Amino acid sequence: MIITIDGPAGSGKSTVARLLAERLGVRFLDTGAMYRTIALAVLQAKISECDPAAVAAVAADAKLELRDGVMHLDGLNVAAKIRSPEVTAISSIVAANPAVRERLVELQREVGTMGSLVTEGRDQGTVVFPAAKFKFFVTATVDARARRRHRELVAKGSTLTLDTVKTQLRQRDERDENREHAPMKPADDATIVDTSAMSIAQVVEALVATVTHEAN
Ligand code: DC
Repeated sequence: MIITIDGPAGSGKSTVARLLAERLGVRFLDTGAMYRTIALAVLQAKISECDPAAVAAVAADAKLELRDGVMHLDGLNVAAKIRSPEVTAISSIVAANPAVRERLVELQREVGTMGSLVTEGRDQGTVVFPAAKFKFFVTATVDARARRRHRELVAKGSTLTLDTVKTQLRQRDERDENREHAPMKPADDATIVDTSAMSIAQVVEALVATVTHEAN
């Protein structure tokens, strides 16, 4: 059984997807971490993220591995590095590159052949797993998402203002929604979940209820 959870940054989808996978006892795939890992490889190669051919070459050469659900690049655990502001800033540019998407979609589908999976991203229900049994599009207002992201960043010691975080979120949304290849959008058959006024626990319960109710 494949369950897809797509949606914009700060919607709570990663946490919800991880908790849902735990509750159902199935594997969890964070596809944003894969795009972030290619973005990190681009930074390390010191090439421009705006040079499509160079980015495609880096993506083709990068040795990506998922070990126990943790991204590794060239044998090294990059879980912390891919959350840096530098990686976040270029991830949506790198993710618009069709060669990057082609490589990562193949890897994601490979994971999908290994058994039940909760997978989260932007295109999981539309492009990668169109036949998924359950599809959710988890979203929230830009204000709610910016507040959450800002809180997380401040807890990590960041001094970015709420306004800056909101501007960056909007820029990322715009790039993810308007790119030519696999733009972020709900699948026609996805259930839209607006988390603006919900806690993570409430969202998880709602999703568990839908999945267990309809699967039985
Ligand atoms: O969910 P995230 O913030 O970790 O995602 C990082 C970037 O990768 C984001 O800008 C959108 C992109 N992405 C994508 O294009 N397709 C996916 N399936 C997952 C993420």
